[in-house]
Amino acid sequence: MATLKRLRDTIETEEKGLKILVVYDTVSAIKNTEKIAVALSEVLKEKGLDVDCLYVKNADPSSVKSYDGVLAGAPTMAFRATRDIMGFLDSLAKDTFAGKLAAAFDTQVQSRISGNAAKGIEKKLQKLGFKIAAPPLVAYVERKMKEYYLKEGELEKAKRYAEDLAKALRS
Ligand SMILES: Cc1cc2nc3c(=O)[nH]c(=O)nc-3n(C[C@H](O)[C@H](O)[C@H](O)COP(=O)(O)O)c2cc1C
Repeated sequence: MATLKRLRDTIETEEKGLKILVVYDTVSAIKNTEKIAVALSEVLKEKGLDVDCLYVKNADPSSVKSYDGVLAGAPTMAFRATRDIMGFLDSLAKDTFAGKLAAAFDTQVQSRISGNAAKGIEKKLQKLGFKIAAPPLVAYVERKMKEYYLKEGELEKAKRYAEDLAKALRS
C-alpha cells in the first residue's frame, strides 16, 4: 500500500515536472549545512522532484528563474546567515519570482541567543516575491572537540521536513 502511494506521488510530481534548486552555503570542515542540503535533496528526488543541489559558489544566479522552487540554506555565523548566501539572494533582485515557492534552512546552536540564519534567508526570499512553502528548517549543532557537529536526529528531522515539503510543493 505504502509502495503504491509512493509510486502515485512520484507520478503526480513527474507529471507536474517540478524543478527545484537547493542552494546552500557551508563554511566549516564538517560541512553540516551541506549534509542537511544533501539530505533534503535526496528525499525530494525520491519523491519525484527534479532537484539540483548546489553549493552557493557553484550556483549561477541567472539560472534561478528556470526553477519552480528554491530551498536556500546557510550556517548561522555571528547570529546571521553568511554573506555568500545573502549576496547570492541579493543578486537575484533583478528577476521576478512571484508565485514561485521557496523555503529556508539553516544550522545553528540550540540557544535563545544563537541568532537564526534561516529567518534572514526567509525574509529575503519573501522580498524577492517567493511564496513561502513551509516554515524554515532549523537543524541544531553541538560543539564537540572544537568543532560543531549536527546533533543526533537532525538529519532525520531534515528528511521528514523534506517529505512534508514535497507535498507542499506539489499542491
Ligand atoms: C566563527 C563561528 C561563528 C559562529 N556563530 C554562530 C552563531 O552566531 N550562532 C549559532 O547558532 N552558531 C554559530 N556557529 C556555529 C555554526 O552555525 C555551525 O558550526 C554550523 O553548523 C556550521 O555550518 P557548516 O558546517 O555548514 O559550515 C558559529 C561557528 C563558527 C565557527
